[in-house]
Amino acid sequence: MLEKTLSIIKPDAVKAGYSGKIIAMLEENGFVIKAMKKINLTKKQAEGFYIVHKDRPFYDSLTTFMSSGSIIVMVLEKENAIADYRELMGATDPSCAKAGTIRVLYGKNIEENAVHGSDSKESTDFEIPYFFSALEIL
Ligand code: CMP
Repeated sequence: MLEKTLSIIKPDAVKAGYSGKIIAMLEENGFVIKAMKKINLTKKQAEGFYIVHKDRPFYDSLTTFMSSGSIIVMVLEKENAIADYRELMGATDPSCAKAGTIRVLYGKNIEENAVHGSDSKESTDFEIPYFFSALEIL
C-alpha cells in the first residue's frame, strides 16, 4: 500500500553536514519526497511533537536537543513507507542498529541518533500535520 511517513533529520546530523547523504539514501531506497523544509523548533514545539514521551526520563533532554539547532522535516512516500523507513533508519540506539542503516552511519548515541521516523499510521496522522498543511504536501 502506498503510504506516507514523517522523517526528521535531527540537529546532530544537520550540524555535522550529513543531510545530503541521508537524503540521497532515502531516494536510493525508493522514497519520494512529497514535502520538505528546514526549521528550528522552540523547546515548546519540540515538547509538543514528542508529547507521547512526556513521562519518560529522557523527555527534557530530548526536547532540549531537538530545539538546539536546525532540523529537516520531510514527508516521504513509498509502498510500505512506515515500516521500510524504520528499517532503513535502524534501531533507536546506533550501537544496536544493523550495519548500513542511517543510524549506524550517521548517529552518535541513543539520543543524538540522526533521524526520526513515524512508528505507525496513528503516529503519521499526528506527526505529518504537526509540520505540514495539506497544501504543502505534493
Ligand atoms: P526517535 O525515533 O525520534 O523517538 C524518540 C526519541 O527519544 C528517540 O528517537 C531518541 O532520540 C530518544 N530516546 C529514546 N530512548 C532514549 C533513551 N533511553 N535515552 C535518551 N534518548 C532516548
